[in-house]
Amino acid sequence: ADAITFYGEHQAGIVTPAQDRLHFVAFDVITKDRADLIELLQKWTAAAARMTAGHDAGVIGAVSGIAEAPPDDTGEALGLPPSGLTLTIGFGPSLFRTADGVDRFGLAARRPAALDELPAFRGDALKPEISGGDLCIQACANDPQVAVHAIRNLARIGFGKVTMRYSQLGFGRTSSTSRAQATPRNLMGFKDGTNNLKAEDGDLLTEHLWAAPADGTQWMAGGSYLVTRKIRMVIETWDRTSLGEQEAIIGRNKGEGAPLGHAKEFDQIDFARKGADGGPAIAMDAHVRLAHPEQNGGVRLLRRGYNFVDGSDALGRLDAGLFFIAYQRDPRKQFVPVQRGLAKSDTLNEYIRHESSAVWACPPGVTGPQDFWGRALF
Ligand code: HEM
Repeated sequence: ADAITFYGEHQAGIVTPAQDRLHFVAFDVITKDRADLIELLQKWTAAAARMTAGHDAGVIGAVSGIAEAPPDDTGEALGLPPSGLTLTIGFGPSLFRTADGVDRFGLAARRPAALDELPAFRGDALKPEISGGDLCIQACANDPQVAVHAIRNLARIGFGKVTMRYSQLGFGRTSSTSRAQATPRNLMGFKDGTNNLKAEDGDLLTEHLWAAPADGTQWMAGGSYLVTRKIRMVIETWDRTSLGEQEAIIGRNKGEGAPLGHAKEFDQIDFARKGADGGPAIAMDAHVRLAHPEQNGGVRLLRRGYNFVDGSDALGRLDAGLFFIAYQRDPRKQFVPVQRGLAKSDTLNEYIRHESSAVWACPPGVTGPQDFWGRALF
């Protein structure tokens, strides 16, 4: 029920212990006017500060205005507690320069090198209509109504300046981002987030999560880069796979979440350990081996994804999977090489399909009421 502090050095919603619910949205900016964009960011920031504290989106509120005007809050969160709401903004590469090279807002020279469009990966089955976008907002909360209310009101405030490109609801966080949290399970039934970067990992966060002035883009110092991928699970095939095979694919056991050949969830992984058949206990193409820092020059990600079920498809299969969310200091050195390795040989690929993709620059935190999201960019 608690409120999470909105102001700070970093945006909330990154190392904040992952809440249970997600409403993620990507917008396209339709105004061509730089001043309009800045004004929108100012209005959004003010509304976000209010809603994360448990207040209405506007100063007047859902039911205190004049009868003749639409209310400045839609009302469905009246009486609900803040529910751990965080709102985190990100800027897509197309905000800086469109795919056909147009610099709409005079920002082209300000685009961080780390905000390169992601390359194509083997096996990608991306749908353009749910990929990319100029702006994103990640709303996380422990009550879905609170998360949806926040996104709805930000979209309402943006009317005429932005259009919603796509949005994704998620339930059941698939990662723990704090050692105080038990590790949740994804829809494959496995504990997910065991070996994640966590809020308590001070020095590792400096090294792997937060952009620094030395990285070359001053306005991003204290920010982080976000990669979002909607990953559909071929649930029916997975469910007909034996327990032993499932565990071999992930490289951990299903009950405890221990690395194969080890006893406990948080045992340090020893990839040299042998299994009963004399081969490696964790297969060479198991997910945790390929994704592990040891295989990737030591790089880490802060994963913060959510399960989704968007009903069922025309063939009567669950339209379900993992909305993958990962924060990092530089996707070119982190997500991209890790995903290249996974795309090439992960046995999990037979059971998943990447359907959307986007990369975002999430600016540093808002320092106080006079500051706004992305101020240093302008
Ligand atoms: C670890 C599942 C996609 C990166 C894990 C673990 C599971 C899992 C069960 C072990 C527990 C843990 O340490 O968190 C999945 C599923 C996916 C998926 C079901 C797709 C639907 C990805 C993608 C990436 C990724 C796309 C990055 C490109 C990682 C990393 C680890 C990990 C870095 C930690 C490895 C370690 O250090 O031991 N994943 N994952 N995963 N995954 Fe994934």
